Amino acid sequence: MKITIIGTGYVGLVTGACLAELGNDVFCLDVDQRKIDLLNNGGIPIHEPGLEEVVARNRAAGRLRFSTDVAASVEHGEVQFIAVGTPPDEDGSADLQYVLAAARNIGRYMTGFKVVVDKSTVPVGTGDRVRIALQEQLQARGVDAGFTVVSNPEFLKEGAAVEDFMRPDRIVIGHDSTPEGLQAAALMKRLYAPFNRNHERTFWMDVRSAEFTKYAANAMLATRISFMNELANLADNVGVDIEAVRRGIGSDPRIGHSFLYAGAGYGGSCFPKDVQALERTARQYEQDLHILRAVETVNDKQKLVLGRKLLSRFGAYLGGKHFAIWGLAFKPNTDDMREAPARVLIRQLLDAGATVAVYDPVAMDEARRVLALDLSAAELARVRFASSPMDTLDGAEALVIVTEWKAFRSPDFGQIKAALKHAVVFDGRNLFEPDVMAELGFEYHGIGRSVLTRN
Ligand code: UDX
Repeated sequence: MKITIIGTGYVGLVTGACLAELGNDVFCLDVDQRKIDLLNNGGIPIHEPGLEEVVARNRAAGRLRFSTDVAASVEHGEVQFIAVGTPPDEDGSADLQYVLAAARNIGRYMTGFKVVVDKSTVPVGTGDRVRIALQEQLQARGVDAGFTVVSNPEFLKEGAAVEDFMRPDRIVIGHDSTPEGLQAAALMKRLYAPFNRNHERTFWMDVRSAEFTKYAANAMLATRISFMNELANLADNVGVDIEAVRRGIGSDPRIGHSFLYAGAGYGGSCFPKDVQALERTARQYEQDLHILRAVETVNDKQKLVLGRKLLSRFGAYLGGKHFAIWGLAFKPNTDDMREAPARVLIRQLLDAGATVAVYDPVAMDEARRVLALDLSAAELARVRFASSPMDTLDGAEALVIVTEWKAFRSPDFGQIKAALKHAVVFDGRNLFEPDVMAELGFEYHGIGRSVLTRN
């Protein structure tokens, strides 16, 4: 099938590469010439396991192309995926300017029937706005070409996006019940047929419900995390181990084990933005989403918890004190630092007068870029970008872990103890067991693990 993907960001690139892998002829469009040049020279603008190989293989096979040529991109695909960014506006609602610009471009050049698929995370009603934007262009040109708008939200996790695309647990498709809508549904069914061989994974619904499903999924996951973080803070006060509680409740199939990990708070490009956008949608209907407002507040506070623990252990003024930080990306297997809890922690420590040495397995370049934006030159001078985890430790009062990279799970504790000034570990992702750490001679601070008595 001939497919066009508009936007070679995270979602667009993964979708394009994976659809090419299934044998489709994929044309990827972006307005950013540098990005297109990079992709055409075999480069990949993001860190995503497995993506580089899939892109290289399909480029070599001639099934995957990258270009800035809008007219050619509209001409190419019978299915046009819109996968451009929807950054938050100042008021928290999703900014649709790139989505609508993509729709107008399709209307400007199309001559025959097109299925326009919203892949970007967009608020309810965006399908209608895309239809109107495109229709206006067709009318202006006096062209009577048929089209329909479909919603097909993505549920990819950064760091596991290729795997998630290739083994989806569900495919959500929203379409109209008009003849064009039914024609589009048939095309989408053919496109996704390889995933439905063993059992049907596609959920068919109307466009608005599909748009809403994506927000509902992310809001539910964010809620679980904030719920556990709030309980973890209480656990610290009452002497309960939140990890034991997590296992105890997760074994109930009605609850399940996923997304119950207390930690340093959720970050990334989706949860913070989507929770806010859903609240914003509700406000437009004069409804207050009480639960989601609390989810957001709890998360903002949770990002401060590690820093607060450090301040209460070492004093409110940290001048002359140095700390080692492991993990900067908002989660493992990505270099993404959007809304990363590490940024909040670094700000707290620098504000209290400390110096820090930081390390992340892949996000060091990104960290240099975002910290240069977050911090003044004088503050940045108090951050040392280390070359390895061990390189952060010399002379540090404590080691602070913010991201649960696999590489941090079994470190050489003897070496850590020898390098640190005090054998103190603050574990923002509960990687280690308090008992084991105590046996190894560490003062250990997890999240929700301050058990008062142990037998
Ligand atoms: C999320 C959704 O999972 C995905 O379906 C959607 O398409 C995009 O948003 P992503 O943002 O890539 O994906 O990361 P995810 O693995 O969901 O983690 C989000 C944040 O929650 C991370 O900061 C992570 O550390 C945190 N988290 C996750 C917890 O604090 N506890 C948990 O139990 C799980």
